[in-house]
Amino acid sequence: MSSAFAVPVSSLFEKVRLPFARAETLPPECYHSEAFYRLEVERIFMKVWNFIGRADHIPNPGDYYTLEYVGVPVIISRDRTGVLNAYANSCRHRGAKLVEGHGNCRAFVCPYHGWTYDASGRLLVAPEMQHTESFDPAAYGLKQIRLETWDGFVFINFDPDAGSLMEYLGDLPETLASYRFSDMKQTGRMEYILDCNWKIYIENAMEAYHVPMVHAKSLQKLKREPPPTVPSRGNWCGLHTKHQGTRALLAGDMGFPPIQGLTGLAALGTYYTLLYPNTMFGCTIDCMWWFEVHPLGPEKMKLIVGSCFPNETIAREDFSEVVERYNRRWRTSVKEDNDISELQQKGIRSPLAQPGRMSHLEELVHHIANWVADRISTPT
Ligand code: FES
Ligand SMILES: [Fe+2]
Repeated sequence: MSSAFAVPVSSLFEKVRLPFARAETLPPECYHSEAFYRLEVERIFMKVWNFIGRADHIPNPGDYYTLEYVGVPVIISRDRTGVLNAYANSCRHRGAKLVEGHGNCRAFVCPYHGWTYDASGRLLVAPEMQHTESFDPAAYGLKQIRLETWDGFVFINFDPDAGSLMEYLGDLPETLASYRFSDMKQTGRMEYILDCNWKIYIENAMEAYHVPMVHAKSLQKLKREPPPTVPSRGNWCGLHTKHQGTRALLAGDMGFPPIQGLTGLAALGTYYTLLYPNTMFGCTIDCMWWFEVHPLGPEKMKLIVGSCFPNETIAREDFSEVVERYNRRWRTSVKEDNDISELQQKGIRSPLAQPGRMSHLEELVHHIANWVADRISTPT
């Protein structure tokens, strides 16, 4: 129970818990309340494996980039031996933020008093500390954050007691194995700051109900029947649509040949999977793309849209010309989804907004709401 709510937090979910055809959406305050967001940070984002992009975003020793994830400044860096690490971006002296942006460096030098750390997080230099009693520089390395990868995708976990990434993913790697993500490279990455709650964006990504309205002029016509949900074990859910060709181009555009060796449903259409709580992978016959969401507050988020193609496709002479058609598709559809998500936020934050009901085309919106309700209802 949280004293910040007029009712016990679990009673917010009574109608969310009903079977899909009878259920309501999450109440509006779940999309704008600071208190609810704090619970999400504590009970969800500080506990789960959070997706933070591709390992080949920083391919070289000494490469690094920084991010702000649910209020935690983080450095991702590749050390001299090629190992990826995540560190708290807070100096061990008096806490200053060490670095911003991205780049390549031999060492991180704190801009405040010059404490210097190598790419493995070790404190190398701490000026004028010779009179400080029992000061052991070895005990003042950067605080390490757990980082694990799956086929080139990078995840961090703030909880030292969490299980492994592979346990968290369940049978997602097996389901998507024939795409061979480790034989792909990131070829596109777009960033947006959006004025909406992270769940608004993710729910939109996992339902096709909005497509005829929001993407009327851009995306290829979809059948108005619910794409089947795919069976899943672990912290994910997904849809699969059967169709010819790719789903990563605008109507009429020609693209690349299919990924070699796709099997089962992967060869027959497109998977849209959600790794809870906030990562969407779209896997179609010639490429994959993702929505990576960094919550920045109850009504703000960063969206990173990344895309990967197989190495053999990237090696084609016409790659840079043809990939522009795919990038145009993502720029177009993402702008449409961004605009509708910000519009939804403007309405749902009203004191007069109320919970709604769902169409049969929005089954995963119900799954997402219940996954959130489970986590929020289980105090840590
Ligand atoms: S806070 Fe970093 S060196 Fe002082
Ligand atoms: Fe959309």
